[in-house]
Amino acid sequence: MKYNFDKPVLRENTSSVKYDLRSKVFGRSDIIPMWVADMDFQTPDFILGAIRKRLQHETLGYTFIPDSFFQAIVNWNFRRHGWQIPKEWISFSPGVVPALNLLVMALTRPGDKIIVQPPVYFPFFSAVQNHGRILVRNPLRYEKERYRMDFEQLSSCLDEKVSMLILSNPHNPTGNVWDKEVLLELARCCLERNIIMLSDEIHCDLIFSGSRHLPLAGLSPSIASQTVTCMAPSKTFNLAGLSTSYLVIPNPELKKKYDTLLDQVHVGAGNIFGFTALEAAYSEGEEWLRQLMLYLQENLDFLTGFIQQHLPRIKVIKPEATYMVWLDCRDLGMKKEELRDFMIHRAGLGLSDGFLFGEEGEGFQRINIACPRSVLEKALCQLRDAVDGI
Ligand SMILES: Cc1ncc(COP(=O)(O)O)c(C=O)c1O
Repeated sequence: MKYNFDKPVLRENTSSVKYDLRSKVFGRSDIIPMWVADMDFQTPDFILGAIRKRLQHETLGYTFIPDSFFQAIVNWNFRRHGWQIPKEWISFSPGVVPALNLLVMALTRPGDKIIVQPPVYFPFFSAVQNHGRILVRNPLRYEKERYRMDFEQLSSCLDEKVSMLILSNPHNPTGNVWDKEVLLELARCCLERNIIMLSDEIHCDLIFSGSRHLPLAGLSPSIASQTVTCMAPSKTFNLAGLSTSYLVIPNPELKKKYDTLLDQVHVGAGNIFGFTALEAAYSEGEEWLRQLMLYLQENLDFLTGFIQQHLPRIKVIKPEATYMVWLDCRDLGMKKEELRDFMIHRAGLGLSDGFLFGEEGEGFQRINIACPRSVLEKALCQLRDAVDGI
């Protein structure tokens, strides 16, 4: 079956964050929304079909997480990433961001230091600061249109108060897929000092050809015992509204601490549509995902070509994964608020401001290209016309 990613889906008036909160976030509702990380494509038919089938039963009472949910996760990770995980390592979480917050609470103490690598997905900052932990920044270095980890600066931040590091792999917003040497070096620094690694791998199924995702915890048993991996089908299959994700925690002590907190706050039951969707996605989703990645690659090529040809003052940081693309707009010479206003009011676009990802992101914008090509083309033409008018 050939899936049609060109087909527009009308998302207005569905309580969609991306569409229906435009006025609130950008001050106007007529912009093309390319900010929140979900896709403007239909959620795959085999997932909608599985949910409809469940709805044929007329009762939606209390449920527990079925064994088939865990088995689907085991099978998917083995097939896609060659990562063998026993079911006993898996815990439910009602979203990766909730999980990061719960893990900070369960596995560290107030006053502990936690390292993040900006520019990075900004809920990492609040997951640390919301709970009285100290945010330590190990900024990525931007050299020759590529981001690298700065191990020298990392070593200088490591002291006995650092108890955790939060990694984004693949990295949001730069699209980096971290390679084995980098991951091993990062893990070496953390293992030496007993630092727990939270590896947010939510984008790990959205890898462009030429790159390969390596689960950090799959690199060695000692790394696994100090790593909690956060994963979900939500980005891959456009299911974010179902609040269903999971953690892989090989270390039984760490797992017990997380599971206990999850239980104490009673958010571990999940929801039946989430289980149904995950199982359908992970058992039937390979071919849809293959076609999705081809379409996203074409969108990426289109964006890159268009910008090279018509917007030479903007640089595309070539992503190896994800449908979020990081744009270096510093040559436009605007201050951060000015750039924001320009994108909203002159270009008519709702992008994610780079400065939200940390001060290193000032002068950058993040654009979501998971939309029909016609929408992407319209957005880029609007941007070109706005830049031509400066
Ligand atoms: C790196 C990363 N982690 C987590 C999330 C959100 O996860 P969830 O919706 O499961 O809380 C996102 C969404 O953009 C993300 O990019």
